[in-house]
Amino acid sequence: MLFTSLVSLFLLASPALAQGDISAAHNLTSLVGTWSSGSRNVVTGPGFANPNNRTFIYPPTAGVSYSFTGDGFFESARYRFNGNATDPHCITGVMVWIHGEYTLNDNSSMTLMPFSDGYQQVQDPCAAESNFIEQYNSSELYQSWRIFQDLQDGYKLHLFQFDGSPVAPLFLVSEEPNMLPTRPLRNDTPSFVAQSLIKTNDAASASWTPGGIVSLASTLLTVAVGAFVL
Ligand SMILES: *[C@@H]1O[C@H](CO)[C@@H](O)[C@H](O)[C@H]1NC(C)=O
Ligand SMILES: *[C@@H]1O[C@H](CO)[C@@H](O)[C@H](O)[C@H]1NC(C)=O
Ligand SMILES: *[C@@H]1O[C@H](CO)[C@@H](O)[C@H](O)[C@H]1NC(C)=O
Ligand SMILES: *[C@@H]1O[C@H](CO)[C@@H](O)[C@H](O)[C@H]1NC(C)=O
Ligand SMILES: *[C@@H]1O[C@H](CO)[C@@H](O)[C@H](O)[C@H]1NC(C)=O
Repeated sequence: MLFTSLVSLFLLASPALAQGDISAAHNLTSLVGTWSSGSRNVVTGPGFANPNNRTFIYPPTAGVSYSFTGDGFFESARYRFNGNATDPHCITGVMVWIHGEYTLNDNSSMTLMPFSDGYQQVQDPCAAESNFIEQYNSSELYQSWRIFQDLQDGYKLHLFQFDGSPVAPLFLVSEEPNMLPTRPLRNDTPSFVAQSLIKTNDAASASWTPGGIVSLASTLLTVAVGAFVL
């Protein structure tokens, strides 16, 4: 794919830019602000997640968003669909919200270290448990990141995951980071981990209807064609 070859080209052309002597490619504009993919419907902040009661506000389309502050905090919001090769009707919808601290490493990678109040909702119409919410607390390593200026869309942030696969290109939607308070927002005790599966089957009907699945299928197709990881 064209994008894949562009990515390889980029990876070859930029051997380990040291973060210490940050190049123009990295700070064409500041990382600080809110970035959102595609139709920009997924945006971090109070319009996406209510960590106090672990609910989500579902955006109209899938996508991904990251916000960064100048003093080392990040927030990330993701809404994606996973296909099922065996049964094309079994599309899984996943919402993920995390926030915490980020580090720009010397080997030009970026590490996200979430506070322990992150959570995800998984909706899988074909699974025994079709809808559940669980804690999400994995730190994430991005192999590299780069900001471009797109003539049409303005500043564009590319993040590459640890395995080199690109996150969908992110566009700057606000220079002011749109984020929830940058501190742990729940007082989780370790016992939550043991009982992290909260059944929310009642809530499922609102956002997971058979009609919805048809439009999910076309969204999935778009995602697949784009070959980006949301
Ligand atoms: C990029 O980094 C250089 C060196 O740290 C700094 O002087 C410049 O203001 C930065 N540019 C932007 C747009 O942040
Ligand atoms: C969760 O919290 C948000 C924000 O406080 C509120 O608007 C929403 O109604 C709550 N949802 C549930 C299911 O309690
Ligand atoms: C795909 O769907 C089948 C049911 O048709 C299910 O048994 C299987 O676990 C699903 N696979 C994944 C990866 O979700
Ligand atoms: C880059 O640095 C990070 C943080 O120190 C580390 O976790 C990662 O493994 C390093 N990556 C490579 C390719 O060395
Ligand atoms: C969540 O991850 C952070 C960073 O890896 C760790 O400090 C914290 O103990 C974890 N919390 C839980 C409940 O696992």
